[in-house]
Amino acid sequence: MRSRIRVGRPTLTVGWAAWTQLNGLQGPSTAKISYVCYDVRHNCCIMFCYQEDANMRANVGGFIPVSEVVGREALIDTIWRALDQHCVRLVSERRIGKTTVLNCMSLVPRGGTRCLYRDLESVHTMGEFVQVVMTDVAGQLAGRERSASKTATFLRTLNGADASGFRLPASVSWHDLKECLRLAIDDALRCNNGRIVFLWDEFPVMLDNVMRRQSKGVAVELLTTLRGLRQQRPSLRLVLTGSTGLHHIISALKGSGGSDTLVNDVPVIEVPPLSPGDAEHLALQLFNGEAMELGDGRACSVLASEVDNVPYYIHVVVAEAARRGQQIDSSAVRELVRECLVAPHDPWKLRHFVDRIQWYYPTVEVPTVHAILDFVAAAAGPVRHAAIVSGLNSAGFDPDAVQLRELLNRLQMDHYVRMDHSGAFEFTFSLVKRSWRLQRGIEP
Ligand SMILES: Nc1ncnc2c1ncn2[C@@H]1O[C@H](COP(=O)(O)OP(=O)(O)OP(=O)(O)O)[C@@H](O)[C@H]1O
Ligand SMILES: [Mg+2]
Repeated sequence: MRSRIRVGRPTLTVGWAAWTQLNGLQGPSTAKISYVCYDVRHNCCIMFCYQEDANMRANVGGFIPVSEVVGREALIDTIWRALDQHCVRLVSERRIGKTTVLNCMSLVPRGGTRCLYRDLESVHTMGEFVQVVMTDVAGQLAGRERSASKTATFLRTLNGADASGFRLPASVSWHDLKECLRLAIDDALRCNNGRIVFLWDEFPVMLDNVMRRQSKGVAVELLTTLRGLRQQRPSLRLVLTGSTGLHHIISALKGSGGSDTLVNDVPVIEVPPLSPGDAEHLALQLFNGEAMELGDGRACSVLASEVDNVPYYIHVVVAEAARRGQQIDSSAVRELVRECLVAPHDPWKLRHFVDRIQWYYPTVEVPTVHAILDFVAAAAGPVRHAAIVSGLNSAGFDPDAVQLRELLNRLQMDHYVRMDHSGAFEFTFSLVKRSWRLQRGIEP
């Protein structure tokens, strides 16, 4: 097919051949691609572009356009490369930028791949899950394609189903539900020549909802069904992520037939904070966007390091600074972070890191987990395993070696602590360490 490129006002339309080489495509010289969609009727893609010098205003937790996303190119490359081979789980502490990465992938997909983003937080049953997958797939099929699809053909055999709208009937057997999921995924793969990725955000929250609303057995069944689909359809690609670690759900399911094998074919990619340079750049862009005057040359680097290069907190601090006045310097940045750490209404929700220990760990282990983190928080730098053991002993705890190793592993997976190359442990985020000290009354 001939490439057709049309540069319109803020949009650029390209034909299918150019679409498959999207990365090499040049838009208007000063613009960045912000949104891409596929126009089924005209068999072409439409890219909405933003000017690079557009004002980047601080945006606390809201959707940000792709043009305002800083420093994720290499990570997104890594994810796309991994997707050439298999499905992926994205993990990170909350507010690091997982959803933002999914938005970038979905709005600027690669190599002719279509992405279907879906936030699953409000899904509470297996039936609702199958329905949202079917709805997303239906949205990808043009009218005739949809009515001729295998899903529609199957739905016509079910009483009360809406075949053209891909709607399940009010009551549907377990077998038919799984068949609908299988057929919808097959239709999606077929209509995109196997190049489609389902981006499922808040996947663990959905599993937790299913456990509560239905049963642990249903959550295991859902995971088993998806594993079966991945095995039988080698081109199926899922990106699973969410603010709660999937490992918590898997361990909750262990007594009900769940095990690590349910997801061990889906390798993990960590979404880290920004690099210090990118975090500083983001701070500068946002201060500029808020028309703030920088009192010294270090305000941006200080902000980046005070908040561990986490983009969300950079947005939050800039927004707060802009609310207070039009000038900022490095000592004001430090003061603002200090204030937010002790503010009574806990604007950064850092108390959550203390509170969630009781939900994340079995009740009998909570005192030991508190003691480990208290000890690591009190230290000025990283502490070795032997020091933690003696610290616990002096606090009256005597965990056996296996239990301690297991707890330290889980604390790493939950992003409380990280281990350095010498085997010593330190808080993963200095902000969390500071907040932990304040809330638990730990003297440094
Ligand atoms: N790369 C980035 N560049 C600029 N800002 C970013 C970037 N990533 C995230 N942000 C900012 O941080 C906010 C939170 O990001 P996001 O919602 O993607 O985090 P998350 O990891 O999905 O959080 P949660 O775990 O709570 O779901 C965004 O609304 C945006 O303001
Ligand atoms: Mg998110």
